Amino acid sequence: MHGPLSTPVKTPASDGEAQRWSASDFAKNGRFIQDMAGPIFALLAAKPGERVLDLGCGDGTLTAEIEATGADVLGLDNSPELLAVARMKGLSVKQADAHALDYVQEFDAVFSNAALHWMHAPELVVEGVARALRPGGRFVGELGGHGNIAAVATALRAVEMARGGTPEQAVPWYFPTMEEFEALLSSHGFAVRELVVVPRSTPLKADMQGWLRTFCRFFFDRFEEPERSAVLDDVLTLLRPSLCDSQGLWTVNHIRLRFSAERSPD
Ligand code: BEZ
Repeated sequence: MHGPLSTPVKTPASDGEAQRWSASDFAKNGRFIQDMAGPIFALLAAKPGERVLDLGCGDGTLTAEIEATGADVLGLDNSPELLAVARMKGLSVKQADAHALDYVQEFDAVFSNAALHWMHAPELVVEGVARALRPGGRFVGELGGHGNIAAVATALRAVEMARGGTPEQAVPWYFPTMEEFEALLSSHGFAVRELVVVPRSTPLKADMQGWLRTFCRFFFDRFEEPERSAVLDDVLTLLRPSLCDSQGLWTVNHIRLRFSAERSPD
């Protein structure tokens, strides 16, 4: 067994290791992330010739859309698997840790969709974003807000605790309240132009097992078979009454924070 009872549990929030992703699982189960991006894409309003950083670009689906506006885009991500797919699309991308951005006043805009909630020290990320932007540059994006995917997070905590772990060990996500995120942006010199909470129920095109395999791999990979399957069954049993309807259709309840902020002109 390789789990909380036999080893100290590390989560992506505590160990600084790159989150591991399967590009094919992400393409199948993560498409909703791009499908939901229309409003922030409009908020970004990238212009031809602008230099844009796509922070947490994943497989480059949105990076390509930004590039199609005529902007000069660089995508950053920490996942070699997803970056390999982005490179096949001919995009300019680089593997990097968003906590250690080393750009100085290089970008007109930094865009980030559904990536900031994976980052264990968001203050370091926002500090790096502020440094990377030109004075007056904009930081636009969406991340999970307080209460995002609450049923999933609670089920993972319950299963972790039932196996001798603590709730803190179960999930890595940063889901701030609107007030917390506004304070974070302001403390790094951003003027917040827009910050809204967007609750959104997302019916899954595939099944919950696939969604969990894609987005909660950090949780299940700590267990070896046959325990891994038993852990997955426990999580599904806890989630089914809340998230699966009588037709067998699963829905995940997102609460996103959508924001646009402007770096101080210096
Ligand atoms: C989301 O808000 O899209 C999300 C957050 C954490 C895990 C999976 C999805």
